Amino acid sequence: MPSAAHASPSSGASAPLPPGFRVPPAVQVARLMADPLGFYEAGRRRFGPIFTLRYPGLPPEVCVATPELAEEVFATDGGPGRAGEMRRAFIGPLVGEESLLCLDGEPWWRHRRLVSPPLHGRAVAAWADRIAAIAAAEAGRWPVGVAMPLRPAMERITLEVIMRVVFGIEDARRLGALRVLLPRLMRLAGSAALVRIPPNARERALASPLLLRAGALPTTRYVRARDEVDAILYDEIARRRADPDAAAGAPDVLSQLVAARDEDGEPLTGREIRDELMTLLAAGHETTATSLAWTFERLVRTPHAMDALVTELTSGATSARGETSYLEAVVKEGLRARPVVLGAPRLLDDTAKIGGYEIPAGWYLSASIPLVLSDPEAFPSPERFRPERFIAGASSPEAVARANRAWIPFGGGRRYCAGAQLALLEMRVVLAEVLRRVTLTAARPEDEKRRLKNVTLVPGRSGLVIARPRSDGASG
Ligand code: HEM
Repeated sequence: MPSAAHASPSSGASAPLPPGFRVPPAVQVARLMADPLGFYEAGRRRFGPIFTLRYPGLPPEVCVATPELAEEVFATDGGPGRAGEMRRAFIGPLVGEESLLCLDGEPWWRHRRLVSPPLHGRAVAAWADRIAAIAAAEAGRWPVGVAMPLRPAMERITLEVIMRVVFGIEDARRLGALRVLLPRLMRLAGSAALVRIPPNARERALASPLLLRAGALPTTRYVRARDEVDAILYDEIARRRADPDAAAGAPDVLSQLVAARDEDGEPLTGREIRDELMTLLAAGHETTATSLAWTFERLVRTPHAMDALVTELTSGATSARGETSYLEAVVKEGLRARPVVLGAPRLLDDTAKIGGYEIPAGWYLSASIPLVLSDPEAFPSPERFRPERFIAGASSPEAVARANRAWIPFGGGRRYCAGAQLALLEMRVVLAEVLRRVTLTAARPEDEKRRLKNVTLVPGRSGLVIARPRSDGASG
């Protein structure tokens, strides 16, 4: 929590830049890897709501911890903040140069305008029944009465959603091939061999015909998996182009992207569409699955919330228009209490004024999502899982408004998550389908630790639960 004793920059000229740990960058990165949350929280405790972290080989990162400062970070999207350039180094090889994640400026805006409509709330609502069927089929296969990890189960659901809703693939053989290829591609893309080597060496390994003959190299296995996936995606693109009328009327995101035209009447190129499909896979598959696993992890340890949710789901009670249902509040609180994304960073191409400091060009500026979502002024007793904090009537209107303003699991500014509406729909539908069918209990009583996997925070035991059919009378 910001300490009152923390010197503000205007209180003395001795602190021109936000304070930070004195230990070497290598030690800072080791502490981050060992205990990501603990490290950020130590920064907040020691230095207050804005502080500097240093990692080897990277520009310094100024990190902010309050909703107000986070808004200032997001406001740099209209100025010096470059979210795309920052992400390109990490995720560029998987999603490609033409990805919404990696672009900035006018090219980014052109893509954002074309990718957003098929992911709009009303457009994705049409998929609710399909998502429910996918979730019901998955839950129907779960073992009864034995410990099972929820995160892989949720990943199977969200992968199926991406393949059908986003890629629009119906052919059973193609679906079967992608069920194997896509997880392999994601695993290899996140492997140390691709993420931790310097970008130049990586580019060489990915393009060298000689190295690509060595089948055992992770870079070679990655290129082979990527090429197989690309062949399927390019073929799906070609099929839709061959029948534009059918594509224009089809609801899947790929068909909509093929039919889309920019302000000059130009379509996206095949490469641009392929990169956006990989972007939606990379950004939307594991994040949504992990958020679901965490929400279940919290629910099985919070009996009052589980009971209230199951009562709402099984009684068929629906909330009045405009009212927040308990299900919606559970989803919001799951994303608040256990956010999966560590931060929303921007690379500055000019000086930015934040919290009274002047952050130099070339530095990273980042809203720490977990720190903002545990800010005790916006979220009293932040360690408690309490969906009621989002429900008017259970909390004062001012408290609900404050919580909603500070709720940033999907980031903010112009780079706000493009798939938030799909993610929220998936979470509501999957929670409802699963809990109407089975009761879940924690396989172990203690809270699961937060572990860093690439840039996401995952449950240490993958959300270990025991499932039983609801009809057998076991309690949730
Ligand atoms: C619960 C699940 C999800 C979480 C927590 C999440 C979170 C985020 C966050 C924090 C950002 C960065 C925002 C910023 O920098 O301010 C982001 C960006 C993005 N997300 Fe999500 N996301 C989720 C699901 C999805 C889904 C399902 C999709 C699409 C299928 C998606 C597509 C994207 C895209 C394309 C961007 C880049 C937007 C841009 O730079 O313009 N996300 N997401």
